[in-house]
Amino acid sequence: MNNLERLMLDHSPHMMLLVEPSSLRIVIANRAAQQTLGYAEQALLALTITDIESALQDVFYWEDVSNGQYLDIEAQEGLYQCADGSMLTVMKSIRVVHHQEAPLLLVQARDVQNEREIEDTLAHTLSQLRATLESTGNGILVIDWQGKIASMNRLFSKMWDIPDDLLLKRNDAAVLEFIAGRVLETDACRTRLQEIVGGNETEDLFRLQDGRFFECKSRPQYLGERIIGRVFGYNDITERKRAEAALRESRDQLEQRVQARTADLQTANATLQTEKAHQQVLIKKLEEAQNQLLQSEKLASIGQLAAGVAHEINNPVGFVNSNLGALQRYTQDMLKLLAAYELLEDALAEDKLQGIKQLKKDIDAEFLREDIGNLLTESLDGLQRVKRIVQDLKDFSHVDESERQWADLETGLESTLRVVWNELKYKAEVVKEYGAIPQIECFPSQLNQVFMNLLVNASHAIEEHGRITIRTGQDEENVWVEVEDSGKGIRPEHLGRIFEPFFTTKPVGKGTGLGLSLSYGIVQKHGGRIEVKSEPGKGSVFRMVLPQRAGAHHPIPV
Ligand SMILES: Nc1ncnc2c1ncn2[C@@H]1O[C@H](COP(=O)(O)OP(=O)(O)OP(=O)(O)O)[C@@H](O)[C@H]1O
Ligand SMILES: [Mg+2]
Repeated sequence: MNNLERLMLDHSPHMMLLVEPSSLRIVIANRAAQQTLGYAEQALLALTITDIESALQDVFYWEDVSNGQYLDIEAQEGLYQCADGSMLTVMKSIRVVHHQEAPLLLVQARDVQNEREIEDTLAHTLSQLRATLESTGNGILVIDWQGKIASMNRLFSKMWDIPDDLLLKRNDAAVLEFIAGRVLETDACRTRLQEIVGGNETEDLFRLQDGRFFECKSRPQYLGERIIGRVFGYNDITERKRAEAALRESRDQLEQRVQARTADLQTANATLQTEKAHQQVLIKKLEEAQNQLLQSEKLASIGQLAAGVAHEINNPVGFVNSNLGALQRYTQDMLKLLAAYELLEDALAEDKLQGIKQLKKDIDAEFLREDIGNLLTESLDGLQRVKRIVQDLKDFSHVDESERQWADLETGLESTLRVVWNELKYKAEVVKEYGAIPQIECFPSQLNQVFMNLLVNASHAIEEHGRITIRTGQDEENVWVEVEDSGKGIRPEHLGRIFEPFFTTKPVGKGTGLGLSLSYGIVQKHGGRIEVKSEPGKGSVFRMVLPQRAGAHHPIPV
């Protein structure tokens, strides 16, 4: 063997041993063999092959060889005895070669100790991976960059119900198409299964045709920097979806119930509020009615008092009147008699006449004769006035009046004016502008109370001296009575309250605040209304409007 051959031999990474078959001696050993097994060349050349290959099957093989039975061996695993006594796993092949007609056996072996270890580790990792894959709760599918199914776990095929024959045929395209066909979003699912080399992670929700929901997450599979496939994890979230839907539904129902209950409560509350408001209105009306009743009773008793007084005065006035009439006639007769006596005076003796003349002078007989008539006329006049006052009182009170009567409002105004004249005469000049209105059917005494209140209010409103104008008029349907004063007027903020019972701006003792509320009630009872216009500092106008025909607007309750 020349040097070049030796060089080549020593640079082979594999152990090479040439064995002489009959003696089984190692005749050539390359450097890789010496170094791997730990023998010096000479020591190795002193050994037989069975010193190295000492496993039983190897010993049998070499036995056969030494007996002339040569067999090639291709890639067989074996154990080599090293110089330090350790055993080395190798992969060997043995080939029979011929040199100068004589057979030789070339043993080539390589150390596979590391490979074995790596393979073991790999197998270990793979089994771990497989176990992990199978025990995960997700269906796992791995597709390689060429679109082929690299792996899937059993759960995956189970959850998708992939038919066995499809799996057995290993027709990947058909399996993927089967999956896409099972979801409602077929196109989206198919696209997702085809987009293998994208670098992004994805998350989708697919609805299956059988009603289930699968959540699908995918991420690329890297080998170093390179994407070599994509891993898809499928999770059956049908139960979760159902629970969510049930929760949503029960929440909606709850909300609806709460809304319905709230609405009920609101309605009940509104009803309560309405009832409360209604009750308040009723209470107010009741209070008003009570106050008005009190006031009417008060006025009715004043009326009764007035009527009683009138009645009592009426009798003495009656007989004083008739007595005075008689007295007037008697006096005239007496005066006639006196005149007749006077004609006889000249026939009397001077001394007697002197006495009479003196008496006439003392009593101023001429004046008496003149004045006695005047006195009687004046007294009769005075009595007439007393009678009129009594009549006015009676007219004003009308205590016995329980039914409507035809009455002239202007007459009523006149009699009321006389009753309150004392109140007005120093305060105001009273101007009357009567429009000669027709009679109406009414309760005159009650309307007189209204007039009285309007007139007294007007006079109270005038601070020093002013004017009160009383007007009457009519239109087609109504008659009206207006009392205008030049007083201080009503402040705007009071205008809406003056008809309230007990609303008064007058000092205690001067006003109770019931006049206008009572008037309002009376006018309303007659089917009419009261209108007010007022300007602070200038005066006020109160206008009472009544229908000409009783009951034209509102029936009058009796
Ligand atoms: N002509 C008016 N000018 C100015 N204010 C008026 C006039 N009439 C009524 N008012 C105002 O309206 C209030 C209520 O009047 P109402 O007649 O109801 O009660 P009163 O006159 O105060 O008391 P009462 O009439 O019971 O004696 C008065 O206190 C006054 O402030
Ligand atoms: Mg008043």
